[in-house]
Amino acid sequence: MHRFEFRKRRLYCEEVPVDTLAATYGTPLYVYSRNTMLDHFTRLDSALAGIDHTICFAVKANSNLAVLRTFARAGAGFDIVSAGELYRVIAAGGDPRKAVFAGVGKTEDEIAFALGKRILFFSVESDVELARINAVARRLKTTARFCIRVNPNVDAHTHKYITTGTHENKFGLDFATAGKVYAAAGRMKNVRAVVVQMHIGSQITTTRPYQMAVGKLLAFVAGLRALGVDVQYVDIGGGMGIVYRDETPPTPVAFANAVAGRLKEFGATILFEPGRFLVGSGGILVTRVQYIKKTAHKTFVIVDGGMNDLIRPALYEAYHEIVPCVRRAGKGLVADVVGPICESGDFFAKDRALPALKAGDAIALMSAGAYGFVMSSNYNTRPRAAEIMVDGAKHRVVRRRETWDDLLAPERG
Ligand code: LLP
Repeated sequence: MHRFEFRKRRLYCEEVPVDTLAATYGTPLYVYSRNTMLDHFTRLDSALAGIDHTICFAVKANSNLAVLRTFARAGAGFDIVSAGELYRVIAAGGDPRKAVFAGVGKTEDEIAFALGKRILFFSVESDVELARINAVARRLKTTARFCIRVNPNVDAHTHKYITTGTHENKFGLDFATAGKVYAAAGRMKNVRAVVVQMHIGSQITTTRPYQMAVGKLLAFVAGLRALGVDVQYVDIGGGMGIVYRDETPPTPVAFANAVAGRLKEFGATILFEPGRFLVGSGGILVTRVQYIKKTAHKTFVIVDGGMNDLIRPALYEAYHEIVPCVRRAGKGLVADVVGPICESGDFFAKDRALPALKAGDAIALMSAGAYGFVMSSNYNTRPRAAEIMVDGAKHRVVRRRETWDDLLAPERG
């Protein structure tokens, strides 16, 4: 469900033809549909209406200020993994008191910054991290609310680089260790346990792993309460999958129906940390065909975007649908779609059946709104793409294209 659709031969983002955006702003170009992102937030929020809940958008998925502002205005909280992300949330008008801070390697400076901004809580991933938070909070004469991120050892059946909830992963603590850390926390003066958190992976396309993990979490929370821990929140993380190709992820209503009963049993405010679900299908990467290169063995469609702009295919062999911004008549082709970077990993698709294309055509990589621009780099001294936000018939630059001078600015030769 997104607002990128063909009207006759032209791809539109909401009310704006995408080829017009490519001509106006240049390529490569990220184009976001504000109303697709808002729809996803609203659909999930309404599906969870029967549960006391807060949706904390996972900033890592797309941290553009305009995207954050959209969710802040819709009433979202935020899941952050660095002080930089908190800084962005505040700059976008988000409420730091609705921010939850995850990550295995928080520095003292980051902890101090977050305490100063009075975030909702820290999601703690080790006993040594909790000791550090306690020490920083003592120095600042305050108390830090926290949870232990538990690792329920549930296989989320997703790509090995984005599964996080098994004991093979660096994330969280097993229930036994987590229980000991909660107990040890009772003896620390500047930390207070208020929540339990889990996050089992990303791009999860069935409800089963959630049901299993929530079941385990429920038993753990009951044990903690028996020990006198005041569990006010339960945070079940993010991970809801989207359609890239032919996946059939649960709808928000199906997701809510599958877990709602169990979640209510917690008798706590439930936090969700979706990233991809809220923004993934709300963004595309538009890139222009430079050459069509034919060898004795293969055909390559060489475009002006590269793995520095969208690294998901190179990193996870991720599939992104590719469509022309204006459909043309003629015979299709089977080709690798590749960028200009000096790496064999610089591809967007391999042996892909494509519709008719010519040099100069703009094409769109679909479902690139999550983990797209945020994972981009300046590799090969390539300025990063511009980002455009479309809202109905309106469109505006929400991040200008970088210049060569931007790239050189921090350096001294
Ligand atoms: N909460 C925590 C603690 C997380 O680590 C993550 C994602 C999320 C929430 C949001 O997960 P989501 O709802 O977006 O699945 N770069 C990879 C995805 C990495 C996900 C990392 N953690 C990709 O492009 O597929």
